[in-house]
Amino acid sequence: MLAAGGLSSGAHLAAFLTLGAAGAVAGTRFLVAEESKYKDVQKRAIIAAKSGSTVRSYAFDELRGTTGWPPGVDGRALAIPAVAAVETVGADIARIKEEVAEGAKKGDPSAVIAWAGTGVGPLDRLQPAKVGCANRLLVLGLRHVATGHCAGAP
Ligand SMILES: Cc1cc2nc3c(=O)[nH]c(=O)nc-3n(C[C@H](O)[C@H](O)[C@H](O)COP(=O)(O)O)c2cc1C
Repeated sequence: MLAAGGLSSGAHLAAFLTLGAAGAVAGTRFLVAEESKYKDVQKRAIIAAKSGSTVRSYAFDELRGTTGWPPGVDGRALAIPAVAAVETVGADIARIKEEVAEGAKKGDPSAVIAWAGTGVGPLDRLQPAKVGCANRLLVLGLRHVATGHCAGAP
């Protein structure tokens, strides 16, 4: 059984391994990896985000023009003011989309759409994806640790 969702630090992983998980899956953590294709402004926004800075909403797909998902499929991303604006009854979605696109062009962090999970809090720097062992290990089974698979890693 693999633990998933909101795991972004070695402490998180250790907690779930202790509970009996065989390993963990991390998604958001890798968005701030150097190898990630996220734009710098998105990476910076995730690094600046605190726990509780994300929200689940349909608004992100509205803003990105990626609607058409089956009913009930929303997405979690960094909360930006446009979310509340989109969710307001009678909202002028086209105008809000224009404002967000304009803000994003200027690099305004409050207009950046960045998918992100609830584990954004501990993410405080850009790192290579492979920095995943020792206390920063991310996607790793307990067996790998026990067999010394990570020996010598930072
Ligand atoms: C950029 C990104 C895109 C994602 N897209 C989807 C998706 O299309 N459908 C889905 O079910 N989950 C999606 N997820 C959620 C991941 O499955 C989730 O992040 C994973 O369970 C790990 O959780 P974590 O991001 O909190 O580490 C996405 C996550 C990220 C970071």
